[in-house]
Amino acid sequence: MHKIPLIKPYITDEVKAKVCQVLDGGQLTEGATTREFEALCRQHIGCAHALAACNCTVGMEMALRLFGVGPGDEVIVPDYTYSATAAVARFVGATMVLVDVDPATMLIDYDALEAAVTPKTKAIIPVSMFGNPLDYNRLREIQGRGQFKIIEDSACSIGASWNGKKVGNWADISVFSFHPRKFITTGEGGLVTTNRDDWAAWMDSYKHFGMMRMAEREDIQFGMIGTNFKMSNILAAVGAVQMKHIEELLAKRESLALRYREKLGGVEGITLPAVTPGGRHSWQTCCVFVEDRNPIMKRMRADGIEVQVGNYALHMHPAFQPSAWCRHAGSLADSRRVFDRALALPLYYDLTESDQDIVIERLIREVRAERSKGGAT
Ligand SMILES: Cc1ncc(COP(=O)(O)O)c(C=O)c1O
Repeated sequence: MHKIPLIKPYITDEVKAKVCQVLDGGQLTEGATTREFEALCRQHIGCAHALAACNCTVGMEMALRLFGVGPGDEVIVPDYTYSATAAVARFVGATMVLVDVDPATMLIDYDALEAAVTPKTKAIIPVSMFGNPLDYNRLREIQGRGQFKIIEDSACSIGASWNGKKVGNWADISVFSFHPRKFITTGEGGLVTTNRDDWAAWMDSYKHFGMMRMAEREDIQFGMIGTNFKMSNILAAVGAVQMKHIEELLAKRESLALRYREKLGGVEGITLPAVTPGGRHSWQTCCVFVEDRNPIMKRMRADGIEVQVGNYALHMHPAFQPSAWCRHAGSLADSRRVFDRALALPLYYDLTESDQDIVIERLIREVRAERSKGGAT
């Protein structure tokens, strides 16, 4: 059977050569290649500081610890996201407050967010879902009425921008993921960006066991209790080569995503998610909305086309039921509706137009089949 995967990591001979170079060099832990990867990310984003980490989840946890978020504090997150966005609030002992999302953009509902802010709100973690940037002016406006920090879960957003400036500059702290489902991937990996020197210095120390960064390593001192959130040179080598090609990878994704949207946009039974005005989407994930998503997904998968649910409506899961440390702000009905309808389509750097046409044709056929069962015309 001809298979079309959801995503394919960009692993070329150039990537393999770079990894071998690190392996041959013998310096495997975080070091010069990690610094090279961080520099490439910093240059691309245009931010002052970019710190590599083992994944996005620990990066967000670290940002909460930097801001002293803990027991008694509230952290507002969108309900439609990956579990990690909310789980980090629990890691530091805070209360997570789940708010609804805009059903068109799948991003946090700004009015619901504003309504959920209390004097206990110490951080919010909005998500630039699938690489669609947020409306940062609106977020700053809401922030101005409270006393909290904005930690952006930009897991999917490397390469995305808003009003001409890359994601990674807008929030107080932004945290990216390089999980293998992301188009820039180090296997597992993360990146934390900020434009504040003092915050970067704190996080650099925290992720290196609390070390004070002495000029001479022989004179190491532990200035605080820290941990190990480092990224090895081996993983950074994979990411460094990919970052050198990010512009061409982004251009390819954009053209394929726009082609999906052009061909699927007018089809009865398929709706396209909205892009934030002023935003350049990274198209980490290209979703459409369909009714009866599950049977459509099942049949397409049986045909070798790896479509997938988008993300999750956390309030539907046992771990995120109301409790002493989890609050639902309202019914979260739009999040549920987004979860039920979102379908992620195959998208990767060497997806051919003929394979993309197979996905398009098959999706349209399955949507029509479901509609005719339901009596729609
Ligand atoms: C929105 C979102 N946040 C956080 C994560 C967690 O990222 P990581 O696996 O790098 O910890 C993911 C999934 O990869 C995600 O999609």
